[in-house]
Amino acid sequence: MTNGSQTLEAIVYKRGSLRIINQLLLPFETVYEDCDTVQLGFDAIRSMKVRGAPAIAIVAGLALAVELSARSGTFKSATECAAFVSASLQHLRQSRPTAVNLFEAAARLDRITTAAAATPIASSASVTAAYLAEAEAMLARDLRDNKNIGTHGADFILEQYKLRHATTATQHQKVRVLTHCNTGALATAGWGTALGIIRELHIRGALDRAFCTETRPYNQGGRLTAYELVFESIPSTLITDSMASALLAQKDIAAIVVGADRVTANGDTANKIGTYQLAITANYHNVPFIVAAPSTSIDLSLASGNLIPIEQRPGIEVVQIRGEVLEDEGNLKEHDNFLPVRTTTVGISAKGIDVWNPSFDVTPAKLITAIATEKGIVVKEANAKEYDLSSFFSK
Ligand code: MRU
Repeated sequence: MTNGSQTLEAIVYKRGSLRIINQLLLPFETVYEDCDTVQLGFDAIRSMKVRGAPAIAIVAGLALAVELSARSGTFKSATECAAFVSASLQHLRQSRPTAVNLFEAAARLDRITTAAAATPIASSASVTAAYLAEAEAMLARDLRDNKNIGTHGADFILEQYKLRHATTATQHQKVRVLTHCNTGALATAGWGTALGIIRELHIRGALDRAFCTETRPYNQGGRLTAYELVFESIPSTLITDSMASALLAQKDIAAIVVGADRVTANGDTANKIGTYQLAITANYHNVPFIVAAPSTSIDLSLASGNLIPIEQRPGIEVVQIRGEVLEDEGNLKEHDNFLPVRTTTVGISAKGIDVWNPSFDVTPAKLITAIATEKGIVVKEANAKEYDLSSFFSK
């Protein structure tokens, strides 16, 4: 699994074919699956074979691209072709509700396709070409945006760390950061947002260690972020979600850096459940709390976070867990020493208990030190409790 030189390629697209890593099987097995129809794209997103706000939007757009390429010759007119695109996008929108990237991408793709169908010389081939150009551009654009977020975020963390430790930090002090959920190559076109900042710190030789939370109940941290960090030999340590405050109290953490599923105009941010409590503990410990988000995660149509639809997941995800059966549990001393025999799912809670399983929570803007975007770092005006993202993004 260790590969010091390259990032994972979780979405593999070439015209006419889309393959994705089935993230439900990670970290135990790395299996690529075809995702070449709208329905397969929908199912992959709904079942969380693919997850993470930018990746959801990209897979939706590209699954439709592949089906459209295959069907293009069968449409009788440009209008029929555009109607198929619109209906497919409408279906894909129903897959998961919280990450705005899917809705932003669907609106953009729909607009472009409808406009292409309205030109006087439109044909199903020209409408298909317009759709494909835009859908295919999403991969490269997201990757570029992630890299820029990484640069801005790393600069900001190092700057803040120097300010906070003005008297003690040396010029080349390495920093420790904590992240939550998975925001890396598995959640984006590649590289990652919050994890992209960590990659950038590592490349600069400025990262002492990345800590990642397990991220119950779905364990995106323990399964996916840990997998990416190990894959790239980035010095890293896994903690359970309940250890975050103790970590901040004891380990000189330079920043907590998380991703976003939707940031509203005032900076309130929906992200993986558990993010809000991390922001509270960051503020208590005077540790910068940074949201890393491409502009595709910013929803200027919503004034504040109480308007964000929060996905409720099935309770079964809380009361059971998937893992490896170990060869010799009796002799197990170190995690790395066991020989996995097979994977299995086990129940871990008392039968009959009711479960509440919101997949996301909303962190109030007040608790967010900065938002790292591809266009730069956004901070609040002096003494303001909220952001004015409308003016930042209209510049
Ligand atoms: O339920 P998930 O795994 O899709 O949730 C993912 C997150 O909350 C991520 O932090 C967010 O989408 C940002 S990914 C760059």
